[in-house]
Amino acid sequence: MPITVNAGQRIFKLDTPNTSYICAVSDEPGYPGHVYYGPRIVDEDVTYLLRTAENPYVPTQNKRDKLSFMDCYPFEYPAHGTGDFRECALKVRTEEGYTACELHYTGYSIENSVSGPMPGVYGENGQVLAIELKDECLGLKVLLKYTVFDDCDAIIRHTEIISADRTIYLERALSASFDMDNDDYELVTLNGTWARERHIERKPIAHGFQGVYSGRGETSHQHQPFLGIVSKDCTYVSGEAIGVNLIYSGNFYAGVYEGQFDNLRVMIGINPEDFEWKLEAGESFITPQAVLVYSKEGLGGMSRAFHDLYRGHLIRSSWKDKPRPILINNWEATYFDFNEEKLLAIAKEAAESGIEMLVMDDGWFGRRNDDNSSLGDWFVNEDKLKGGLKKLVDGVNALGLKFGIWFEPEMISPDSDLYRTHPDWAIAVPGRTAGLARNQYVLDISRKEVRDHVFKVLSDILDNANIEYVKWDMNRPLSDLASLELPADCQKELSHRYVLGVYELQGRLMERYPGLLLENCSGGGARYDAGMLCYSPQIWCSDDTDAIERLMIQEGTALVYPLSTMGAHVSDCPNHTVGRVTPFETRGYVALAGTFGYELDITRIPAQDRAMIPGQVKMYHMYHELVAAGDYYRIASYSENRLYDSWMCVKKDKSGALLTFIQVMGRANCHSRRIKLQGLDPEKTYRIYRFDMENVREKPYGPEKAYRGDTLMNAGIIINNLWGDYKGILLHVISE
Ligand code: DGJ
Repeated sequence: MPITVNAGQRIFKLDTPNTSYICAVSDEPGYPGHVYYGPRIVDEDVTYLLRTAENPYVPTQNKRDKLSFMDCYPFEYPAHGTGDFRECALKVRTEEGYTACELHYTGYSIENSVSGPMPGVYGENGQVLAIELKDECLGLKVLLKYTVFDDCDAIIRHTEIISADRTIYLERALSASFDMDNDDYELVTLNGTWARERHIERKPIAHGFQGVYSGRGETSHQHQPFLGIVSKDCTYVSGEAIGVNLIYSGNFYAGVYEGQFDNLRVMIGINPEDFEWKLEAGESFITPQAVLVYSKEGLGGMSRAFHDLYRGHLIRSSWKDKPRPILINNWEATYFDFNEEKLLAIAKEAAESGIEMLVMDDGWFGRRNDDNSSLGDWFVNEDKLKGGLKKLVDGVNALGLKFGIWFEPEMISPDSDLYRTHPDWAIAVPGRTAGLARNQYVLDISRKEVRDHVFKVLSDILDNANIEYVKWDMNRPLSDLASLELPADCQKELSHRYVLGVYELQGRLMERYPGLLLENCSGGGARYDAGMLCYSPQIWCSDDTDAIERLMIQEGTALVYPLSTMGAHVSDCPNHTVGRVTPFETRGYVALAGTFGYELDITRIPAQDRAMIPGQVKMYHMYHELVAAGDYYRIASYSENRLYDSWMCVKKDKSGALLTFIQVMGRANCHSRRIKLQGLDPEKTYRIYRFDMENVREKPYGPEKAYRGDTLMNAGIIINNLWGDYKGILLHVISE
């Protein structure tokens, strides 16, 4: 079993296949401290690492200098106000306004199954350790919960805070915190903006606080709830990498604090800014879950640990392990300018090419001919879709395609019947005109009455026609926060209640329509997070569909999230976001790293591109399983070398692999390139085939010979210089 407890010495050891995590309790009054997180070790008593002996100020022995102890002890869940002056995980306020809190160990329990609240991990082969802490003065109980599975190198932490007998305000309640030595670590974060999400950044860690956060009510285009704490020598292949990710879709805070003794405190949770939660006597608060992974195989090992956990223990959709239908989405094809005839023409040609689903994007409802109106009026625009939605869906189904639809359920346009009837449903501060973004307001989804309405209109549409896919969009951040239903001392609960409201709605949707394929989206990728993955097995990665820009976006996304979750489409050129022209073939190779689909007017693209689609569809069916279920290895990074990009997906049993190589920039007078493969079985022998896009079949690649896995990984293979910019090749590596 993964959890071992030495009750006498109060040591808690969590083992995953390759890692160990140890925390322990100091002498009385019993402070929980972080001892170790790293490669799996056998000894459980490594409590000398708490260094209490080095510290002459153990509080019971030397009350005079308690604060010196508090300010350097590696607290496992540091609380504010009693001498630890570093960033803390918990800050409470009493009704009198007092903020001091001190947590002491009081006991532990272990559960042998994992079925926490949504969103969160699940699974039968796991255990949950709860370490109980108390502040007797406050009547406060804190449960530090640790979930471990026997098949994943991840520790999942969250915290439950219970007020026994009085009203308490939580000003800060992070999900996890742990202290570690700073061996010259560097910090990796994922940052960007609209259409340029999740670019990887790396920098040395210095004294003080460094981190990222969102205050936008959503995860955001700008930052991810992720931290990589990596050794200086860490690459994709080797070196130490600790990854921390939050299973949450709202305001988050993720950071490291380097203190006076050069040690690090790593923290993640709900952003304390604009957050407060009132606990009445007997009430509890449960934080989102934080995922911790440790790898000695660098960033690559870290990614694979996240991917395995999310594919195996987080995503719940009935589509989780199924190949997703290849869809064609009309957004970049038509924007708002479409009607039934146009959609059916696209569907007809799509069906002839082997595409499996038509998705009707924004603009089908109310009077929505641009983005200035009608959000909230979820009834079909019969000027566009004559005869209604069912007629269109039946028509698309008759062509052999599934049908999917776009919604933006959390929003309301000022120019909508819904707003005219319920202006008070929009989030706004009474007496102040709320700010518009994309000419829309946000519905107060924290209110049950609003959620019930939204669910009813969604289900009315879904019940009316054979709709098998929903794209759930969200195109603006939250601002002007106020909820008419909350008392003054609970207004700061709104952002979190909003996120819980979204989860509740999506949960209801999945319960009522278990076969529905849900894709989350937020103006591209502003809600690409593990919280959303609990409800939707795929998320739209970015509104930038340019194959070259996508290399960096998809590389950053795959650092944490599985390829099976990355919404990726082949679109038309010049690309609508950057104006770049890339070969249709390359666009297909890049989209193959995700869910794969099309985002173009198939009736109008150049004939030679159109002719390539059936072959690309076949390519998807040949390789998708490898991509979706395999282990991901990064071979080369265009964001680092500015010339080429390459990644591999290797079957779990190592019997096959797919290597994608994209030459971004052609160069004059240069030699071939040597690429070292990864993840293969060193003992197995493999043959290499190149996917020939023109003839849609595989051809032997390079010398017709078998290679041992260790040769391919250590000596490598040759990729000849490709002619031109933006060229790519796919190599299928198959064991004999
Ligand atoms: C933003 C999404 O990312 C796009 O794909 C598209 O659905 C538009 N919204 C529609 O308004």
